[in-house]
Amino acid sequence: MGHPVLRQIAEPVEVFDSPELHALIADMEDTMAAYDGAGLAAIQIGVPLRVMIFGVEHNPRYPDAGPVPKTVLVNPAWEILDDTMESDWEGCLSVPGMRGRVPRYRQIRYRGYDALGMLVERDVDGFHARVFQHEYDHLDGVLYPDRIEERETFGFIEELQAAGLLGECGESAD
Ligand code: NI
Repeated sequence: MGHPVLRQIAEPVEVFDSPELHALIADMEDTMAAYDGAGLAAIQIGVPLRVMIFGVEHNPRYPDAGPVPKTVLVNPAWEILDDTMESDWEGCLSVPGMRGRVPRYRQIRYRGYDALGMLVERDVDGFHARVFQHEYDHLDGVLYPDRIEERETFGFIEELQAAGLLGECGESAD
């Protein structure tokens, strides 16, 4: 956070199934795995294209979250299915060591394309919907601290835990 690229509006991908796109996604997958993240946007590794990945298998860090399928989304779009919002803890690989509570829409529909250009469309809710919204924000230069309303919930993990605000292992949307 602070690097100007994170504030850029990412550009759509125009060519699918290219060596460049496959290489970008492989880099993103390596990065996400290395940091044990739930998701990653291309802009976080300095590439301002509208590409995101996410996925969570059963993970003790997210005890209440169902698994989120491993997903690649290029040029995604989304709509709100239920305008109820709920707040939960998020973190971000671009804002290391911190957490904050972020309101997100509970139920959404998203669509986008995989690396080959095949349509992916899903109605999702809860943590899955949260991860998508977090990653989508990155495509428009928005970081989760921008969306925090309960400002006292934004802080360093150790401080939030010491204050009893954050549990043993706070959930991280990315
Ligand atoms: Ni993030």
